[in-house]
Amino acid sequence: MCGIVGYIGDEQAAPVLLDGLEKLEYRGYDSAGIAVFDGKQIQIKKAKGRLKVLEELTHDGANMPGSIGIGHTRWATHGEPNDTNAHPHFNSKKTIAVVHNGIIENYLKIRKKLEKNGYKFLSETDTEVVAHLLDYYYNGNPLEAITKVMHRVEGSYALGVLFSDHPDKVYAVRKDSPLIAGKATDGSLIASDVTAVLKHTRDVYYIDNQEIACLAKDSISFFNVDGEPITKESKHIDWDANAAEKGGYEHFMLKEMYEQPKTVRDTLSPRIKDNHVVIEDMKMTDADIKKIDRIHIIACGSAYHTGVTAKYVYEGMARIPVDVDVASEFRYRDPILGKNDLVLIISQSGETADTLAALRLAKERGIRTLAIVNVVGSSIAREADEVMYTWAGPEIAVATTKAYSAQLICHYLLAIRFAKAKGLVDDATEASYIKDLEKLPDQIELLLNNKERIQKFANRYVTAKDIFFIGRGIDYAISMEGSLKLKEISYIHSEAYAAGELKHGTISLVEEGTLVASVVTQEELYKKTVSNIVEVKSRGAFVLAVTNEGNTDIEKVSDYVIYVPQTNQYFTNSLAIIPLQLFGYYVAVGKGCDVDKPRNLAKSVTVE
Ligand code: G6P
Repeated sequence: MCGIVGYIGDEQAAPVLLDGLEKLEYRGYDSAGIAVFDGKQIQIKKAKGRLKVLEELTHDGANMPGSIGIGHTRWATHGEPNDTNAHPHFNSKKTIAVVHNGIIENYLKIRKKLEKNGYKFLSETDTEVVAHLLDYYYNGNPLEAITKVMHRVEGSYALGVLFSDHPDKVYAVRKDSPLIAGKATDGSLIASDVTAVLKHTRDVYYIDNQEIACLAKDSISFFNVDGEPITKESKHIDWDANAAEKGGYEHFMLKEMYEQPKTVRDTLSPRIKDNHVVIEDMKMTDADIKKIDRIHIIACGSAYHTGVTAKYVYEGMARIPVDVDVASEFRYRDPILGKNDLVLIISQSGETADTLAALRLAKERGIRTLAIVNVVGSSIAREADEVMYTWAGPEIAVATTKAYSAQLICHYLLAIRFAKAKGLVDDATEASYIKDLEKLPDQIELLLNNKERIQKFANRYVTAKDIFFIGRGIDYAISMEGSLKLKEISYIHSEAYAAGELKHGTISLVEEGTLVASVVTQEELYKKTVSNIVEVKSRGAFVLAVTNEGNTDIEKVSDYVIYVPQTNQYFTNSLAIIPLQLFGYYVAVGKGCDVDKPRNLAKSVTVE
């Protein structure tokens, strides 16, 4: 959370910084600020609220002259969102300015010590200690002060730093928070992620943990924690700059929902060769796969939900037992991991703090790790033993859609690959799975084209108090994601329940007219879920059913039905989720919510 940028070059820095921050606003958006060296001193402008408040304050950057600066968009951790707590932060002499993404865990101890030494703090943030600590250690050599600070602070940080007596340099350093540097023809940049620099360059350096970057107009140099120079190779990014623009859509979320057919195709097709699943990015051999005793899927949020679906798929197809854990629980419960287990990490950003910590825990225990990740070069992608990329391109809306869909595809492919290696799936079955998978993009498109009907239905629910989602097996996993999509962007209370469990308490919340969305795509569970639909219906619920084409008799027990095309039972999630995404989206739009940037959330959660 929080996004940082930095620029030094020929152009005026402030507009470049604001443009970069706009791309990073998904990381946090309760306040923003920039610091620019104006030729004599460092000027800071910061403001509570969305980036547009800062843009107005600075006339889109026009009233901040200078060609070197740093910027920040905040998701508050320490201290409420206000102008004072917004970054950048100064030392008292206003000669050092700092932007920070992460948490300095020992900031109170450092703050006390600095206060004893006469340092005065203005904000409640953990970041301000870095500005004063740099001042404390500074004797004219920025690199030396930075390395001393690195040895002193605990926690996670990506920092951008300006020193007014070194006005031809931007310094940056990171530990456990993402940071990249890019060299463009007109200057050098740093940013929390590549989308913020794509307009200027596609050649980026991934700054590793405890490395320092020193940006000059014409060059970037790197140093280790001891201040010794190191060499790094740049990586070329294929994402095109337009991928991070709205492209005529009202919201990024709608655009990204519409990109799902492409995302599914891009993630699937490079891994299908001559009617076989071939995962070239995975080194595991058949012998390795046969040895897997158990899979532990670990993730957060929607990525976790793909894991809940995947459990049914891996267990059903490949007969490998699967545990699914949210990363924040897994990492603190001393999990039992067998030496032949596989830890499967799922993450769009590749930077989620708890997920990264879970990965590290598994690696410390010597367990094989495989990560499904969207952001190339992210921390999880680099640290996992193996990585399978979802080819979704940049996802900007906080509520994930296309990355979620791409993650499902990776699970399906892995499950087929595992089942094949174990001799549980023959060529003919594999070919039929592939046939169904290859149909998914067109089927998703068909469902997206039905959006008006869902919009009309959603409009009826903008004033709803509670909405429930129920399903069994994979349908329960779909319900969890449908419910999350709705509540995170529309702020309507919602719960997902295993359909058979509802009567053990939660059914008491069902009143006359309460909407119960029922997902019924698993044919062998069809009758069981229909019984649960009848239970809620007879207590006054209004029932929306999402089911497979052909199940028309569901109309007898439901009030509104959305049909999804036929596919293999393992893959229904990829289709049934589409109307539920659209439903959540249109309820939120109908309520006038800020769909792409829901309150209190951030896309990349880099604090635990
Ligand atoms: C945040 C996002 C979710 C996402 C979760 C995990 O909460 O709002 O959309 O599913 O983080 O993020 P990751 O990047 O690890 O997939």
